[in-house]
Amino acid sequence: MNIAEKMKQDWEERAQHHARFWIATEHYQNEEVFSGSGEETARCIMMAIHEVYQPTWNVLDIGCGIGRVLKPLAPYFQTLSGVDVSATMIAQSKAWLADYSHITTYENSGLDLSEFHDSSFNLVYSYVAFQHMPRPVFERYLGEINRVLLPEGYLALQLPIGPYHEAPLEDTIGIRSYTFEEINQKFQDNGLAFMNPATVDHSATDLKQIFDHRIHLAKKIRPIRQQSRVAWGQLDDPHYYSPLDLHLYEVYSENCVQLGKPQEGIQTLQSLVNRHPKHLPGWLRLTALLLEQGQLSQACDTLQALTALHPRYQEGQDILERLRNKFVNSPKSTLIHP
Ligand SMILES: C[S@@+](CC[C@H](N)C(=O)[O-])C[C@H]1O[C@@H](n2cnc3c(N)ncnc32)[C@H](O)[C@@H]1O
Repeated sequence: MNIAEKMKQDWEERAQHHARFWIATEHYQNEEVFSGSGEETARCIMMAIHEVYQPTWNVLDIGCGIGRVLKPLAPYFQTLSGVDVSATMIAQSKAWLADYSHITTYENSGLDLSEFHDSSFNLVYSYVAFQHMPRPVFERYLGEINRVLLPEGYLALQLPIGPYHEAPLEDTIGIRSYTFEEINQKFQDNGLAFMNPATVDHSATDLKQIFDHRIHLAKKIRPIRQQSRVAWGQLDDPHYYSPLDLHLYEVYSENCVQLGKPQEGIQTLQSLVNRHPKHLPGWLRLTALLLEQGQLSQACDTLQALTALHPRYQEGQDILERLRNKFVNSPKSTLIHP
């Protein structure tokens, strides 16, 4: 499996689980909250471009998800296009954007913008998408952005700029942060330049910058002849699973409990451990949740599966033993804290 296939597989899995959650993990609960967050992002994009903006522009959103930001931007532009690596995101975007005939969305390869001719757009933007992509994928996109932008077109880009922070190539959601020098160089190599370099905090060393959602504006200053050639070799560990992925599935299941839908939380954890049986914390959280919900026999089954898969986890054996004893001694008990 290569990185393009892995990005497609992982984002497809997330979109099928709950597209809105994986797009906006804090604003997914209902359509109203989700729409409100899209309006806020659209406002930030309009602020970033306000000095150069023209209503006649054609724009492109890279990593558009279901169109959270495309929809509130619709009134401001002539045409809007979006690409996303996930087929499910794009299928859902068709429904989310059904009332907007001047917005079109496409499933893309996850690496390029081959759907579009050269010099098609006045503005390309991207929000909380590039920060998740491996560096070589981002670099490849920069070349493509240069190609599809009109001369003197703009790029409005959310990307954490501060201390250097990397994630393994296989990680399709872990957040990457770029130093100013690095991003400046990548822009130069790809015929782009910051519009307001002075507003970028060059010296930031705080890792909190990683959660920086600011939008930076760049301009196409020259066409590039040759795009960077990146070899998409086979991944060392195609089964790699990002710690952020695991964490977010667990957050989702916690939220389900808070929202009074514990069974959905249980199902989320069950499908997580089925896919990733090595993930001991997922098993433990699932067992705890089953116990909290008084589902004792399922908790026993889960512990049994857990201890079979993780024989060195002695504590699991002990808990199972104690649980079995309690279960046998007081089968009517509904809540047990081993
Ligand atoms: C956190 S979501 C943000 C969606 C949207 N930009 C928004 O703000 O509502 C990240 C999106 O990027 C897409 N994505 C991730 N890697 C991609 C890639 N290599 N090419 C295109 N889309 C990608 C995912 O499928 C997902 O829809």
